[in-house]
Amino acid sequence: MISLKILSENRDNCEFKGEGGLSVLVESFGKTFLLDTGYSDLFLKNAKLLGIDLSKVQTVVLTHGHSDHTNGVPYLDNGKTIIMHPQAFKDRWSIRKKEYVGFPMSEEELKSRHNVIETRLPVVFFDGCYFLGEIPMTVEFEQKGNFSTTLDEGLTQTDLTEDDSGVAIKTSEGLFVMTGCGHRGVCNTVEHAKKVTGQDKVFGVLGGFHLRNLEKQKDIIDRTIEYFKSQDIKVLYLGHCVTDEVIEYFEQKLPNVKIVRLASGKQFELELDPLFENQPS
Ligand SMILES: [Fe+2]
Ligand SMILES: [Fe+2]
Repeated sequence: MISLKILSENRDNCEFKGEGGLSVLVESFGKTFLLDTGYSDLFLKNAKLLGIDLSKVQTVVLTHGHSDHTNGVPYLDNGKTIIMHPQAFKDRWSIRKKEYVGFPMSEEELKSRHNVIETRLPVVFFDGCYFLGEIPMTVEFEQKGNFSTTLDEGLTQTDLTEDDSGVAIKTSEGLFVMTGCGHRGVCNTVEHAKKVTGQDKVFGVLGGFHLRNLEKQKDIIDRTIEYFKSQDIKVLYLGHCVTDEVIEYFEQKLPNVKIVRLASGKQFELELDPLFENQPS
């Protein structure tokens, strides 16, 4: 079984506050890791409300360095194993808001507190669980990626977000792929996950696809929908930088796919069997 606990996401839900960020506690066939830490210490507060003691969670995977996924890192207890791409430490500013949106700690400080695994290459961190490393942009309509823009010493530079990665879990029904913001493109992420894991079938995807505006991104959204159809994907967990209007469009266009909307405090269980040898007893 894979279980998902949404510790922070853009949407409020009952007593659980939302924020512009993402943090998901993932249990994959008996082993637990935290995927991103959201924009503040909200992930800890919501975990407490859910009765979860995060001090017992040893492994943290960071999808990329943006502050809406990493600002919670300073609130983690010392001694975690943190898996991330080295470029996640890159300084970044938002042009629109003129504020810092990069990693909240120096590399030295993070390494003085935690066991940091920095890698551009994929890493298997639990049985059947892959950190995907750097994602090549190979899908024709995603070759520009979903770039964010940085302001560097007064100059505007395009940010290729080389650090933007994700996680794939092998199951008997196909891969379950998780993205943070999907800046490298969700289809690129899924294609890379297939190569890295050697599993071609895809069961579901969770994210963060950076699809926010139906009018402006109509072409890429339509092509993404066609891609999901071609992969015969069964379930999509959508939220964070997928807006409600885009989610509703996905629902219309993919009537045979189970579409689930993320929100802080929501919990999901996927009744799946593992596809790897060292299964927990
Ligand atoms: Fe994000
Ligand atoms: Fe991002």
